[in-house]
Amino acid sequence: MMTTATDAGTIDATADQDPVALAADDITVHFGGLTALSGVSLEVRRGNIVGLVGPNGAGKSTLLAVLSGLLSPDAGKVLLRGDDVTDVSARHRATRGLARTFQQPELFMGLTVREHLVLAYRARVVPHRMWRDMLDPRALFRTSPGEVEKVDGLLELLHLTHVAKAPVAALPLGVIRLVEVGRALASQPRVLLLDEPLSGLDLHGSENLISVFREIVDRSDDGLALVIVEHDVAAVLALSDMVVVLDFGERIAVGTPDKVRSDAAVRAAYLGDVEPPQRTATGQTAAPAVPGSRPEVGGA
Ligand SMILES: Nc1ncnc2c1ncn2[C@@H]1O[C@H](COP(=O)(O)OP(=O)(O)O)[C@@H](O)[C@H]1O
Ligand SMILES: [Mg+2]
Repeated sequence: MMTTATDAGTIDATADQDPVALAADDITVHFGGLTALSGVSLEVRRGNIVGLVGPNGAGKSTLLAVLSGLLSPDAGKVLLRGDDVTDVSARHRATRGLARTFQQPELFMGLTVREHLVLAYRARVVPHRMWRDMLDPRALFRTSPGEVEKVDGLLELLHLTHVAKAPVAALPLGVIRLVEVGRALASQPRVLLLDEPLSGLDLHGSENLISVFREIVDRSDDGLALVIVEHDVAAVLALSDMVVVLDFGERIAVGTPDKVRSDAAVRAAYLGDVEPPQRTATGQTAAPAVPGSRPEVGGA
């Protein structure tokens, strides 16, 4: 269902030959005297799920901000489907196929699931239309057959068909997260960045979200890739094709989940074979997380 966009024409099909959807090349970010990222590189291949993990303060959110365009790095480059977008704004990166979700969902609690997806889909096809629709609620009910088909497809993909008519306010957090993902997917991105999508979810909620993430990627016709920043290391290792581990702003490991799971530096720094480093300087401590166990997920 996630075919190449033809309606808005913002995505160039010829660029699809590049197997690398998104790359960070040697990124360094300083906050005053603190080095939040030090020469970090990352490659996101088409059709892959890339997990980004590391203890609190490791630089995960900073890297996500650099990838999405909210933060300019002090050094290094960001490449989106081969193009250097380091100086391109977040908004323009979005029109080139980069989408993201936020940790705190930004939803209109009175609108239904379907209405959210209709709005998100229209915002892609006709920029600024969303606000017109918000000001004239009747417009929400005037849906074209094309819209209905797209939105039905998204609802089905996300297993949201049965709650399509429910106001978002009535839904559990796990379902609200799926609506967020649906809104991001309505823009038909090539890469979707997810900031701690499992935080605050119970085991059932996170398992459901994880299986939907896998399905979204596997069913994508145009190589959708996901980048997931997540506290829950076991979940990331289970879900990802590639894992990048940050610690104190440095990339300490990269590779398949199996490779990362058995990496000595990762185990020492993070995965709980030995005591994890104490973050006394910032007052934060990193909880040990042993692969195969499910550490507590952070509250949202
Ligand atoms: N806007 C900021 N100003 C100053 N320091 C920051 C800012 N954002 C993050 N930091 C610092 O940079 C480091 C990395 O932070 P962050 O990327 O949020 O880590 P993570 O997401 O892995 O927990 C931390 O030491 C954090 O305190
Ligand atoms: Mg963070």
